[in-house]
Amino acid sequence: MKISVIGSGGWGTALSLLLMENGNDVTLWSHSEKESETISNAKENPFLKGVPLPDSLMLTANLDCARDADAVVLATPSFAVRETAKKLAPLLSPKTVVVSVAKGIEKETSLRMSQVIEEELRGKNNVVALSGPSHAEEVGRGIPTAVVLACLDLGVAEWVQDLFMNERFRVYTSSDIIGVELGAALKNVIALCAGCCDGMGFGDNTKAMLMTRGLTEMARVGAKMGGRKETFAGLAGMGDLIVTCTSDHSRNRRAGLLIGAGMDPQEAMKQVGAVVEGYYAAASGHAMAKKCGVEMPITEATYNVLYNGAPLRETFTTLMTRSKKHEIEESWV
Ligand SMILES: NC(=O)c1ccc[n+]([C@@H]2O[C@H](COP(=O)([O-])OP(=O)(O)OC[C@H]3O[C@@H](n4cnc5c(N)ncnc54)[C@H](O)[C@@H]3O)[C@@H](O)[C@H]2O)c1
Repeated sequence: MKISVIGSGGWGTALSLLLMENGNDVTLWSHSEKESETISNAKENPFLKGVPLPDSLMLTANLDCARDADAVVLATPSFAVRETAKKLAPLLSPKTVVVSVAKGIEKETSLRMSQVIEEELRGKNNVVALSGPSHAEEVGRGIPTAVVLACLDLGVAEWVQDLFMNERFRVYTSSDIIGVELGAALKNVIALCAGCCDGMGFGDNTKAMLMTRGLTEMARVGAKMGGRKETFAGLAGMGDLIVTCTSDHSRNRRAGLLIGAGMDPQEAMKQVGAVVEGYYAAASGHAMAKKCGVEMPITEATYNVLYNGAPLRETFTTLMTRSKKHEIEESWV
């Protein structure tokens, strides 16, 4: 198959290698000529250090590479998905399947990435969301990984499953695209908060609490938005939450670590030096919680620390001293 991967960050590059390994013709598009040249000259991507790129990987900064593609993998950061989809719209044939791999929610509209893409492509193309516990650094090195591909039309998800799946990359399918995309975006906020707690010197108990209660609030808003709560116990929910909250590869956790150690949030984002999706997702999650009338205490607390200058330790104490609750909320179970 002819596949264009749009976005040459770490994830777009790792997925390009995987798709090539599976026998596809792959072109990797960069946002700038300079980025494409850097990758071409070094035969390595600075966003995915230590992973050599084969000569057969075609590199370009020209979006025309998406014309006549059987599939387009949209792998820019979430803030750039709308503008990139808008540019792709006149180039794509209706038969091209778009695989959305960015993990975010549009801040202004609370739309999921597949919805943003569908809006820009005017519903002409099938859009599938790929998510799960999958650090580019590990997929690029062929470390065994599993993800989930979600599309309302399971037949389309199964077609894409065959493109990606191999003995080191296991792909499940789901028809719950709402749950999969919300899990992908919202867990980054919990990971940022988990990093803050590590940075403040808290322990494993604290992290386990955040992950478990974080998953509860993700599933709560997810169900309200039309997702299935079981999806949050799967790869795109619990799976991704575990990897993002515990791994040193996670930028969200790294940004949180710096904030927890006393750094100003803006400075921490700069220091991480790559897109910290949890920073944007905190604002989107906060807006979504308000819109749906759903409580998301960890997301709210993280939002207040990131955007309103709320002091970290006091904010955490406020979280710990909320009114008494039952663990399982009958209203949404
Ligand atoms: N890195 C991972 O392990 C991983 C895994 C799964 C999903 N994702 C998701 O994939 C998406 C991309 O992440 P990444 O880690 O590959 O990014 P990255 O931080 O490695 O790279 C950012 C890329 O975005 C490009 N970019 C910057 N501004 C742009 C614009 N205006 N238009 C188009 N491109 C622009 C840069 O040129 C660069 O190639 C994110 O939503 C992320 O959550 C990442």
